[in-house]
Amino acid sequence: MNKEDLNGKTAVITGGAEGIGLSLARTLGKLGMNIVIADIETEALASAKSSLEDHSIAVLAVDMDVALKEDWDRTAAEAQARFGNVHMLINNAGVSGGVGAIETLDDAGWRWCIDVNLMGVVYGANVFVPHMKSHGEQSWLINVASMAGMGGVPMAGAYTATKAAVVALTESWSQELQGSNVHVSVLAPAFVKTRIHESYRNRQPRYATDVKPTADVFEVAKASSKAVANGIDADLLSARVIEALEQGELYIFTHPNYKPVVDQRSGNVSDAFERSAQSPLLGDVLNDRIWGFKVD
Ligand SMILES: NC(=O)c1ccc[n+]([C@@H]2O[C@H](COP(=O)([O-])OP(=O)(O)OC[C@H]3O[C@@H](n4cnc5c(N)ncnc54)[C@H](O)[C@@H]3O)[C@@H](O)[C@H]2O)c1
Repeated sequence: MNKEDLNGKTAVITGGAEGIGLSLARTLGKLGMNIVIADIETEALASAKSSLEDHSIAVLAVDMDVALKEDWDRTAAEAQARFGNVHMLINNAGVSGGVGAIETLDDAGWRWCIDVNLMGVVYGANVFVPHMKSHGEQSWLINVASMAGMGGVPMAGAYTATKAAVVALTESWSQELQGSNVHVSVLAPAFVKTRIHESYRNRQPRYATDVKPTADVFEVAKASSKAVANGIDADLLSARVIEALEQGELYIFTHPNYKPVVDQRSGNVSDAFERSAQSPLLGDVLNDRIWGFKVD
């Protein structure tokens, strides 16, 4: 696609009230897209709406929680009532919760992270992909994961697990939707200057916990706030997203300096395969079928 193709089309961006979501909203709006920002943070949502309108962008703001399926149905209805067909969904809302050692990360923290970072993405696709397929116009599903999803991050098990799941889901959906009108991408940034390290501001009361954060949580939080403060600007990320969409990329990376981390993981996996291929136990499996398809 060319960025001109976006003119007049409609994008729904979750977590669009701040940070990466708001920057993407502004960038896509300036390219002529109608913008729906959907967010749990009511005050930030109102000021994001007026800041986008200052750029003459057509914008609808929807107060919603991505972890609630019924909120997605309402968002879709409101978006279509205002703008008609929706052509792009950016599943961007996310929380950095779920920080801590194996022993200290409690159930409520896990559940919060899974419901927002993973189920939010699942519900979004459930609601909007059938709509995109049925109108048949060129469409995009962009899931925001993280570099954390490309390899394990210590003391951040829940965040890492949900982001790795978003990468895997995107790979699965990209194959499922191949040849359709819906292009699927996963955005996996490293650090970007936003308020992601202050995600607790949006922890819904239903995920409240009595467990007090331990010293290790504070250490991780301190280190990640510093890294976020030194991160790239969200507007640079947004420009990169447009460039990657124009090239039809599945994986959208913004931090080429992290390649060695991913290379190391790929190398470790490849070495482990080599060792399994040398195992006398597995000789017969070598020539067997892969994923149910015969190997040539
Ligand atoms: N900033 C980084 O360094 C970084 C790095 C990698 C990935 N990411 C990912 O980028 C995405 C955007 O984060 P950000 O950095 O802009 O952080 P941010 O905290 O500035 O913005 C996140 C937005 O999501 C909204 N949100 C949170 N919970 C929600 C819910 N339940 N329903 C609806 N909206 C909700 C927040 O209100 C906020 O507007 C997240 O998925 C995050 O994991 C960020």
